[in-house]
Amino acid sequence: PNKKKFIARSKAYHGSTLISASLTGLPALHQKFDLPAPFVLHTDCPHYWRFHLPGETEEEFATRLAKNLEDLILKEGPETIAAFIAEPVMGAGGVIPPPKTYFDKVQAVVKKYDILFIVDEVITAFGRLGTMFGSDMYNIKPDLVTLAKALSSAYVPIGATLVSPEIAAVVDSQSNKLGSFAHGFTYSGHPVACAVAIEALKIYRGKEYS
Ligand SMILES: Cc1ncc(COP(=O)(O)O)c(C=O)c1O
Repeated sequence: PNKKKFIARSKAYHGSTLISASLTGLPALHQKFDLPAPFVLHTDCPHYWRFHLPGETEEEFATRLAKNLEDLILKEGPETIAAFIAEPVMGAGGVIPPPKTYFDKVQAVVKKYDILFIVDEVITAFGRLGTMFGSDMYNIKPDLVTLAKALSSAYVPIGATLVSPEIAAVVDSQSNKLGSFAHGFTYSGHPVACAVAIEALKIYRGKEYS
């Protein structure tokens, strides 16, 4: 119950509503909006070319960023951190692929402290990096995944969240205690959007899917 803080990264883009804008790491979305919210922290942007030290290799840069993440977790207290969120390749922040070994090292830190790994695949899912998901490309094992854009090849608006069986079980058990899972949206599960998404994925995956 004490794990309530989120760690995102400078230059990340996760959206523009109150909490997603807090997770976003772009000053334009924070200034004048009194953001980020106090329970959202930011760690380094993994932009090797811009932020590496003189003579530092990509691997050394990745090691330093993972160490900074671990230091932040220890300073805040691991028992207060719910999740770390990252785009496999940063999008709105400048199309920034991660330096070599970055996700291996960061993932090891996150798992070590029992912190959930949210992978924001709104841009990278459905083949846009050459693999089905960006997580496949970088060998990330996410606990939650956000999806949109290429889910319907943008023919209709649709977004989705994938959750691990462990998280689904917790949501289930708490919902049973409360009587229902009372969170939803006006257009949740809209059949037209879902039908278009299924069709778009069939075309994308071809015979393999159907
Ligand atoms: C990586 C990423 N996450 C989240 C979002 C936000 O999605 P939405 O605009 O549907 O809130 C975007 C939008 O471009 C994005 O690129």
